[in-house]
Amino acid sequence: MSSDLTAEVQQTPTGMRVLGAEKLDYRFHYISPVFDVSHAKLAETYKPWKRVLIVIDQMDYSSDVAGIYKETIDKYFAHFSIPVAWKIIKGGEINKNMDTFNDIVDFMDSEGLVRKEPVLVVGGGLVTDVAGYACASYRRSSNFIRVPTTLIGLIDASVSIKVGLNHKKLKNRLGAYHAPMDTYLDFSFLKTLPIGQVRNGTAELIKISTCADKRVWDLLVKHGKDLVENAYGHKEGAEHLLAAAEEIEKKGIDVMLKLESPNLHELGLDRVIAFGHSWSPTLELTPKVPLRHGHAINIDMAYSITLAHKRGLLNEAQRDEYFNLVTSIGLSIDHECFNEELIVIATQAIMKTRDGKQRLAIPDGEFGKCTFLNDITDEELIETLKVHKAFVKERYPGYEGVDAYVDAGDLGEDVKTFLAAKEDGSNEPESMKKNGVNGVKKAAVAAGAVPVGGSGKLTNGETGAIKVAA
Ligand SMILES: NC(=O)c1ccc[n+]([C@@H]2O[C@H](COP(=O)([O-])OP(=O)(O)OC[C@H]3O[C@@H](n4cnc5c(N)ncnc54)[C@H](O)[C@@H]3O)[C@@H](O)[C@H]2O)c1
Ligand SMILES: [Zn+2]
Repeated sequence: MSSDLTAEVQQTPTGMRVLGAEKLDYRFHYISPVFDVSHAKLAETYKPWKRVLIVIDQMDYSSDVAGIYKETIDKYFAHFSIPVAWKIIKGGEINKNMDTFNDIVDFMDSEGLVRKEPVLVVGGGLVTDVAGYACASYRRSSNFIRVPTTLIGLIDASVSIKVGLNHKKLKNRLGAYHAPMDTYLDFSFLKTLPIGQVRNGTAELIKISTCADKRVWDLLVKHGKDLVENAYGHKEGAEHLLAAAEEIEKKGIDVMLKLESPNLHELGLDRVIAFGHSWSPTLELTPKVPLRHGHAINIDMAYSITLAHKRGLLNEAQRDEYFNLVTSIGLSIDHECFNEELIVIATQAIMKTRDGKQRLAIPDGEFGKCTFLNDITDEELIETLKVHKAFVKERYPGYEGVDAYVDAGDLGEDVKTFLAAKEDGSNEPESMKKNGVNGVKKAAVAAGAVPVGGSGKLTNGETGAIKVAA
């Protein structure tokens, strides 16, 4: 089992107290290509079960994991005489919901999943989140093994133990902390990942290195553009990049694990890896077509770098190094929706999730070091925004991030259908309907804020009447 709970009972003056702790034991394996018959480790895990149940995603609109890898996986398990039962789910954010969850539960049920038998989950953060949550719930807790196939999956989603799904328009509203038994990390999957997804994931590596690892930062400065264009050395003829890529990947994961493992339930709120994640949750969902996560966090980080420079925490050369790297790989550095209203509302929203403090992670004197700011006034936020926009306009006139918006692959349906459904509003959660939330506040609510009634109506531009669930 990947986790075990034990507790003891103590007598108290008024009754009893149960005191316990959960023991966790889960492993990461660097094996590549994981589905090559020369690598028997994964197959050996399934030998005792005499079969493997696999959950994987397939898309109607773009490249997908089942379409590309199902045959290879079938061959792999056939080589070891292990029969496979497939559950192919629809990928995309609109399918990160209860229907997909139920679909996976039905599959486990009809196949008669045996206690302790681990379900094999193959795919990006979407599949590992929703299938992981189904495993967290099935018979109260079932085992699973993850094989992430996107850069976000490899260095972020599959490093964490968070699983979950969306409820209507509310992102990740239902979920659990549920560790898998094993995670197989194989970066050769990046070979087939669309470049927009590779760029998206690179923003998370930039995040980790900016505030927590100077060596990874320096490697990204040197090779960032080539890495994105060549799938981190996995495109043909780019093998010379593999050594740098491997160092970045392994160190990045190592830093994430070391920073987050003492705080797996995220009760500690000064989180280095929250750099870039203060204003971006609201910003990501504000445009009609949402921004890709990596672009939204990069705008948040770029603004933070302007702030760090303005406060004397970074010098001009360091600021320029940041902007040169992120623009060379095509990440967004500003957006028309990133305006005064958004920055004030999003700051209030994020503070409620951080016990009333700002806790803004920001590089401290050099890349790889981090401090937390708690004293930024609305005036300073707005003044910094002016400085940021003026700098971007002057230094990078006409620059726009490449593939900045989600596409059918991220959504699970084509963008026009998505927009039509969005305007129809029938999928609006009760909290939004009841409180008449709109505009930037709607995005803040979708990202995690709770609208509060008062007069009952929150209107665009009104500040103060928003709170966020802890
Ligand atoms: N649990 C966590 O801590 C955590 C962290 C970050 C993100 N997430 C979640 O992850 C989700 C996003 O995941 P993602 O960015 O990995 O995207 P994704 O899983 O939606 O995959 C993006 C697209 O790439 C395709 N794809 C995946 N691997 C491929 C490959 N190797 N080759 C070709 N195509 C491939 C998918 O079919 C899909 O079309 C979000 O729902 C987010 O909330 C969770
Ligand atoms: Zn993120």
